[in-house]
Amino acid sequence: MKAGLDDVNPEGKRVLVRVDFNVPLLGEGGIRDDARMRASLPTIQELRSRSARVILATHLGRPKGKSVEALSTKPLATHLAELLGVEVGWCSECVGPVAQEAALGLADGGVLLLENLRFHPEEEANDPGFAAQLASLAELYVNDAFGTAHRAHASTDGVAHILPAYAGRLMERELAALSGILESPARPLVAIMGGSKLSTKLGVIDHLLPRVQQLLLGGGMSATFLVAEGVSVGRSLVEPDFVAKAAEILGRAPSLGAEVYLPTDVVVAASPESPAAGARSCPVGEVGGEEMILDVGPATARRWSEMVRRAGTVVWNGPLGVYENPAFAGATSQVAAAIGEGSAVSVTGGGDLQAALESMGLVSKFTHVSTGGGATLEFLEGRELPGVAALRERVAVP
Ligand code: 3PG
Repeated sequence: MKAGLDDVNPEGKRVLVRVDFNVPLLGEGGIRDDARMRASLPTIQELRSRSARVILATHLGRPKGKSVEALSTKPLATHLAELLGVEVGWCSECVGPVAQEAALGLADGGVLLLENLRFHPEEEANDPGFAAQLASLAELYVNDAFGTAHRAHASTDGVAHILPAYAGRLMERELAALSGILESPARPLVAIMGGSKLSTKLGVIDHLLPRVQQLLLGGGMSATFLVAEGVSVGRSLVEPDFVAKAAEILGRAPSLGAEVYLPTDVVVAASPESPAAGARSCPVGEVGGEEMILDVGPATARRWSEMVRRAGTVVWNGPLGVYENPAFAGATSQVAAAIGEGSAVSVTGGGDLQAALESMGLVSKFTHVSTGGGATLEFLEGRELPGVAALRERVAVP
């Protein structure tokens, strides 16, 4: 188990906190969704209340090692000040003398946000000199950036080998929720996989297959499984290179004790932009040559809803349909609502589904909504995340 804020006394110390404030932007300094910022408030508030001097570092977007004004963290400092209800300093550099002076100028309980780490190519290169410069700003390091933990960058890996490195509260929550699924889930464990591409989900499906009792496959990627079953899917997006792998998964599941469910009925239309009037539902065997599968059908959604209501644990990645069009959002919203009616521990991660749930007002139905996209997928694939590996282990009290 990783050491966290319970294992250190931050009082009066300068603490470098790596956060993932890589939030979707609106342009002109606006923030489209501040969920990732709100998720790190417990760590920041706790450090403040324990009289630490909080130096926040994040990346924003992919500026590729150059200063890009539109990706400055300055508007985030303004927004964070509103969320915290206290003054938040902002520093136009993240390393060097200006950053040093700002860090040294902090009072106990003070908060400072540094400029975008990725304005320097050394960040993503995990450059040891850059990591040393970051480390020199502080006496302790806390990583709360679960969403970036799959990157071995200077601020997630390098610096953690220089300063005493601890997990923040968000990092702890994410690790507890996600490792609970892999290690000790309440049964039955139901996994729901959706989204458009099977190729990006194969690692997760492979790792979850020996652990789940039921695996429900929806979204665009279910078309590749249906083709593997010999079903014709019209103009649906299929990944021909992965049909054999899909067949292999379907063939392997029974020996692992996993029941795999594909949709038995689907919602189809000419295109994802079709209006509701142009959509129809039909059994999977009856998709027309010019039609595309755009959502799981109502009969399947009802059955899957029943399964999640009876589940002990549900893990869900990827929407079941093209939810951006209300005509194809039905299954995702129905199954999410059913999760809220049951008593399962429910965990979801991955940007698309989170966006879908937010647009439907269904986020609160879940026990844990991960802030990670790629990081959550890699964790569920069973891979070690460099940003987690670099943190101290908790010393067991005898
Ligand atoms: C994310 O949004 O998944 C993280 O912030 C990591 O961002 P990246 O994919 O640009 O490294």
